[in-house]
Amino acid sequence: MRNSILFVLLLMVMLACSKPTAEKGTNAYYIQKADSVLALMTLEEKIGQLNLPAAGDITTGQASNSNIAEKIREGKVGGLFNLKSAEKIRDVQRIAVEESRLKIPLIFGMDVIHGYETIFPIPLGIASSWDMELIQKSARIAAIEASADGISWTFSPMTDVSRDPRWGRVSEGNGEDPFLGAAIAKAMITGYQGDDLSLDNTIMACVKHFALYGAPEAGRDYHTVDMSRQRMFNEYFLPYKAAVEAGVGTVMTSFNDIDGIPASANQWLMTEVLRNQWGFDGFVVTDYTAINEMIDHGLGDLQQVSALALKAGVDMDMVGEGFLTTLEKSLEEGKITQKQIDDAARRILVAKFKLGLFEDPYRYANVEKSKQVVFSQEHRNIAREIAAQSFVLLKNDGNVLPLQKKGTIALVGPMADNRENMTGTWSVAANFEKSVSLKDGLEKALGEKARIIHARGANVVEDPELESRVSIFGKPTYRDERPEAVMIQEAVAAARNADVIIAAMGEAAEMSGEASSRTDIELPANQRRLLQALKATGKPIVLVLFTGRPLAIKWEAENIPSILNVWFAGSEAGDAISDVLFGDVNPSGKLPATFPQNVGQVPIYYNQKNTGRPLPEGEWFQKFRSNYLDVSNDPLYPFGFGLSYTEFNYSNLQISSNSLKGDQSLIISIEISNDGKYDGAEVVQLYIRDLVASITRPVKELKAFEKLFLKSGEKKKVEFELKQKDLMFYDQDAKFVWEPGEFEIMVGGNSRDLIKTKIDWN
Ligand code: NOJ
Repeated sequence: MRNSILFVLLLMVMLACSKPTAEKGTNAYYIQKADSVLALMTLEEKIGQLNLPAAGDITTGQASNSNIAEKIREGKVGGLFNLKSAEKIRDVQRIAVEESRLKIPLIFGMDVIHGYETIFPIPLGIASSWDMELIQKSARIAAIEASADGISWTFSPMTDVSRDPRWGRVSEGNGEDPFLGAAIAKAMITGYQGDDLSLDNTIMACVKHFALYGAPEAGRDYHTVDMSRQRMFNEYFLPYKAAVEAGVGTVMTSFNDIDGIPASANQWLMTEVLRNQWGFDGFVVTDYTAINEMIDHGLGDLQQVSALALKAGVDMDMVGEGFLTTLEKSLEEGKITQKQIDDAARRILVAKFKLGLFEDPYRYANVEKSKQVVFSQEHRNIAREIAAQSFVLLKNDGNVLPLQKKGTIALVGPMADNRENMTGTWSVAANFEKSVSLKDGLEKALGEKARIIHARGANVVEDPELESRVSIFGKPTYRDERPEAVMIQEAVAAARNADVIIAAMGEAAEMSGEASSRTDIELPANQRRLLQALKATGKPIVLVLFTGRPLAIKWEAENIPSILNVWFAGSEAGDAISDVLFGDVNPSGKLPATFPQNVGQVPIYYNQKNTGRPLPEGEWFQKFRSNYLDVSNDPLYPFGFGLSYTEFNYSNLQISSNSLKGDQSLIISIEISNDGKYDGAEVVQLYIRDLVASITRPVKELKAFEKLFLKSGEKKKVEFELKQKDLMFYDQDAKFVWEPGEFEIMVGGNSRDLIKTKIDWN
């Protein structure tokens, strides 16, 4: 009794003495606040802050009996993730702030990746919009919905550059280009965090997976990464760095190794690069059990790998409890220091102060508000608009598109009538069955104006075993057990009675995403057979292609007149696709990743090096040149490519000077005219090439872009400014350097078809 009175007195004295002297809102201020709490904590409680369990299956009202609840009471939990609903979160938070000794609030995280309940296109899709304002808006809406439901921390954006479409997680990133990836990282973080994290509708972002997770060997998830420093710094690091510059609150480690050391134990990466070079001052969380996985990487037992992670600069341990169960022992044995534990706990407390959780631990869980904002009609309307901007028109021979709202349409394919698959991978908070399928969307758009004959025609894949692996997470593929020939016959009969065929084909949502790598990235063979049969009817076909990755669709590109790539467009997919199919919206998406001719070309990307034996442009094959015997070096569709219902022409490329000095700027202008009969948007892209340097440089690098809207018949001039800094790069010693010389400047509507000029910059 006497002890506890003394403790309460001590606590009051310390809190009274700990009024911060630093200016409110500064980092120093939050550090002082955190230190005042840290001073009261036992070693066990400090280590508890570093522990991040997954919510598991806590249900409302039962939180207090769960195993996690016991740990929360003992001060052994810093945060919890993937618990959904304001009520449940309030329930669990109550345990922390009423039943634990120090009453430190928990931080609640979630994988809010491309929307909360209102789902936007998968990240690869939204990147295709090249519209930073809309991308920022999508993150803003995600934050508004998630925060109303109690979430104050999202594990997004994923900014892993990837050039390998075999890797399932290309769907969750923004494609192959570091510059576009960096711009999107900034837009997402601004959307989530706003400029005041303590507001009840802004949430903390987490850039992931640091680093190089998008470059596993053979495209196999979690596989080894081995890369030169100059490639890391010039290409793969840029989006993570941009995220830090945009003020991202947290960073997640990747599962892979880098230079032979897994990211979660990589001190060079987590401390030298991230904190010392880039100035990151938030906290670092591991990916799911990434510390424990270092045992399998071969770095030692749980105590050893946990100590390595803490020393490397990791602050929070997701799920694995390596920190919780071993750090005390490591401290006793002198393997880690008290300061390392204090630093990690402080960073987590600082984040909680910044989010305003100490002021009001229930700030982010508002049951009433949640009912109003989550999946609201207003948000869904914006999601529909954004979805339509993400579609990429790959081919439109004979202007099959846009379709007219009349006659008879045969709607076929395994993705035609599937609501649950529309949201794509990583949409944990969504109610899948509330999504709009393509069939729903077409029926709404057409009403009585036209007739739809629906026939499934094919399963997603022929092999039931493979199909069962991708009919998961509440996203059924509705396998049809009838023989293939019967399904094809039915679809062909529908086609014969129709004026046009809409073929909704491609991948199921879970054929991409985590642990969903593929070695065959063509359209599944059974779906191809259906397309062949449909083609034989002679009816015009629109292939609406659902995919979470660039696919190798050479046969389709050669045989099907019209292809609209729709990725997985989110909860409003069916309406948005209808908007574009009928020309209410003119497609303007551009590919953020190269589509290969076949899987053997992978990795194929536009910003490649020239090599010492380049193939002359336009050539197919030359002996002793860098090429293949059996396929040309060309991609099927290059980075930045996408058609429109209208026609854009580029002319009059002008530069302010062809000889620049030092820190002058270069102004580049170009005229774009809309010479077709539809209004539409075009993404104007500027690339450069550094012609002579101390290290080999890419043949093209995106350095600027602008999306502009032109009415039919309208002409506009676009101006870009390039600064010396934009032409600098990291040299062999990873130093950011300026090397004067000759540069090529290229402007156009994709990375292949460009108007070029040259400049000297000394
Ligand atoms: C593993 C994934 O790699 C990561 O992206 C995700 O945020 C965590 N699991 C938490 O669900």
